[in-house]
Amino acid sequence: MSYPYQIKSFEEYKAAYQKSIEDPAGFWEDIANHFTWKKKWASKEDVLRWNFKEPTVEWFKGAKMNITENCLDRHLAERGNQPAIIWEANDPEYPSRILTYKKLHEKVCQFAHVLKNNGVQKGDRVCIYMGMIPRLAIAVLACARIGAVHSVIFGGFSAQSIADRLEDAQATFIITCDGAYRGAKDIPLKSVIDDALIGNKTIKKVIVATRTRTAVSMIKGRDVWWEDEVQHIEDKGITYIEAEEMDAEDPLFILYTSGSTGKPKGVVHTCGGYMIYANYTFVNVFQYQPGQIHFCTADVGWITGHSYVVYGPLSAGATTLMFEGVPTFPDAGRFWDIVDKFKVNILYTAPTAIRSLMGFGLGPLQGKDLSSLKVLGTVGEPINEEAWHWYDENVGKKKCPIVDTWWQTETGACLISNMAGITPAKPSWATLPMPGVQMVLVDENGKEVEGEAGQTVSGNLCVKAPWPGILRTTWGDHERCRTNYFATYDNMYFTGDGALRDKDGNYRITGRVDDVLNVSGHRIGTAEVENAINMHAGVVESAVVGYPHEVKGQGIYAYVIYQGSHAQNTHGSGDLVRKDILQTVTRMIGAIAKPDKIQFVSGLPKTRSGKIMRRILRKIAEGETENLGDTSTLLDPAVVDEILNGRI
Ligand code: WTA
Repeated sequence: MSYPYQIKSFEEYKAAYQKSIEDPAGFWEDIANHFTWKKKWASKEDVLRWNFKEPTVEWFKGAKMNITENCLDRHLAERGNQPAIIWEANDPEYPSRILTYKKLHEKVCQFAHVLKNNGVQKGDRVCIYMGMIPRLAIAVLACARIGAVHSVIFGGFSAQSIADRLEDAQATFIITCDGAYRGAKDIPLKSVIDDALIGNKTIKKVIVATRTRTAVSMIKGRDVWWEDEVQHIEDKGITYIEAEEMDAEDPLFILYTSGSTGKPKGVVHTCGGYMIYANYTFVNVFQYQPGQIHFCTADVGWITGHSYVVYGPLSAGATTLMFEGVPTFPDAGRFWDIVDKFKVNILYTAPTAIRSLMGFGLGPLQGKDLSSLKVLGTVGEPINEEAWHWYDENVGKKKCPIVDTWWQTETGACLISNMAGITPAKPSWATLPMPGVQMVLVDENGKEVEGEAGQTVSGNLCVKAPWPGILRTTWGDHERCRTNYFATYDNMYFTGDGALRDKDGNYRITGRVDDVLNVSGHRIGTAEVENAINMHAGVVESAVVGYPHEVKGQGIYAYVIYQGSHAQNTHGSGDLVRKDILQTVTRMIGAIAKPDKIQFVSGLPKTRSGKIMRRILRKIAEGETENLGDTSTLLDPAVVDEILNGRI
C-alpha cells in the first residue's frame, strides 16, 4: 500500500495546507479517492456541507462505504499474511499473538455473524467493556461491519458510570469479558456489568469473552459466551460476511467524554469523514512506512485507542501493536522490553507515562535494544520540557523525531502536531495545524487574536471550519453539542483549551480554560467529581479544582463541607471519612476520578449570588498563600483564611 497523500517535506506541507484552506472540498476529495467506496459522492458539492450555527457538518453525504472494507478487505490481496495486530499480554510469560490481516478479517466476519445471530441490527448501540485483548478490536470492527454503533467504555469506569451511559445511548447489547488483567490487578468486568444492569430495561444480550476465567454469573436468556457463539459459526464453515452499506454520514461510534457539566457527553463520529481523517493523520504525523510496527499504548476505551490502535493503522494496512498491561508491570522496563521484543518502529504514549517512567531512572532501560525506534509521539496532555528531553535522549537516543499531538475526543484525530522529520519540532509545543485545520486564537469576546509580527500571542483555541473528523453531534442531544462547542464564539468550534502561538505559527497548549481536569491524560469534569462526592452521606457541599501534579500533570483537590454522623472524624485526622468519600467516588465514577487531596472546610468562598469563586480555591490548591486576588466580593471573606490555614 502506498500513500500518495503522504507529505514528504516542509514545502509540501505548506502547499498542502494552502490548498486545504483555499479548496477544502477539493483537497479532501483527492484524498478520499484513495479509499474503497461502494458508491462515491455524486459531485464535488456533496463533499462538504456545513453550518456551525446549527451545527451541521456533512462530509461525502450520499457516498456509501464500510470502514471495515478499508481496514481489512482492501489489504487482503497485497498483505493478507502480514500481521495486522500483534498482541502482548499483561504477563510477559504468556504467549504473545499475531493476527494477520487474513485472520483478523475472518475473525471479524465470524463475530459479525455472532452479533447478527444474537439480534444486533444496523444502528443498534452496542456497549463494549473489555480489556486490551485482540477480541476488543474484533468486537469494534464487527460492529462496524454490520453497521451497529459501538460505544466502548474504558475498563476503569464503575457500574454506575456504565449504567448512565447505557441509558443515555439506549444501548441494547453489551460485549464484555469475564475479567481483565492490568498489572498486578484482575478487574472483574462481567461482575461490574452485572451491577450496571440492575434496573436496566434496554439490554437484550450480553456476550462474554473469557480471559481471566474468574467465576462469573451467566443469566439464562441474556448472557452468552463469546467462544460458544463463535463455535456455532465456525462449525458451519462460515468465514465471511458482506459489509453493510453505510452512508458516509451514518454514525460509526459514540464515545463518552467529560465536559464542564456533571454528565458525560456521547460524542458521535460518522463513518466516512472519521476514517479519512484518522488515516490521513496517522500516515502523515507518524510518517508511517509500510511494514513498520506501530505501538500506541492507549487503551481502546479512549479516543486515542480508537484512532491510533484500531482505525488509523488498520485503514493504512499497518501493523498495530496492542498491549494488555501497564508500563510498570512487572517492572518499569516493560515498554522497553516490548520495543526490543517486537522491534517496534513507532512508539506513541502519554506524558504521564513518560514522567512516571522517568522516576525509575535509567536502570530499566539498560540492556534494552531500542534501535528499531524511528518515531516517538505523545498525546493527551501538555508535555513539560524535562520529560520531552528525557524521552528524546534516553528513548529516541536523539535520533527519533518526537511528535507532540494535540487533539480531543471531539476532533476524532490530531489537529495540531508536527509531522515526524518533516515539519520542525519544538519541545513542549504541539506546533502546526494539520492541513485542513483552520486554527485560531480568540479573546474572551471572540475577537481573533492576530498579534504583531514577531510576537507570541495567547488566547482561546478555536477552529474556523470543519475538518472531516469533527464530531457531528452529542448523542440524543444536539442542542448540547451546539451550546458546548459552537455557541461560545460565533461561527467557531471552541476546543475548551487555551494556547499560545509564536511568530512562526506554532501552537503551545496551555491547558483547559473550562472546568475540565486532565489527570494522567484523562479528562475528568470537576462537576462530575463534585456530584459523586455530594452523593456521600453527610457531605453538604463540595468544590473540586485541579492542581499541578508532578507525574499526573494535574491532581484532584476537593474541598468538602461535611456534617455527617461521623463528623467527629473530621476533627481528628478525618482519614476514615476521606477513605469513605474516595470509596463513593470510585462507585459513582471509577478509581480514575478519586481526589488526591480532600480538605474539610466549614464553608466555601462564594459571591453574594452564591457562585463559588473557584479561582481562589485553585490558587490555594496550587500552594499560593498570598495574591489570592480580590476577595471583597465574597459573602464571607473570613472563610478564605480558614481554608488557607487548613490547606493540605
Ligand atoms: C488535552 C485526547 C496538550 C487538551 C486525545 C484536550 C493536550 C484534551 C494534548 C482532550 C497535547 C490532548 N498537548 N494538551 N498534545 N493532547 N491534550 O478528549 O486539554 O481525552 O482538550 O483526547 O487533552 O482529551 P481527550
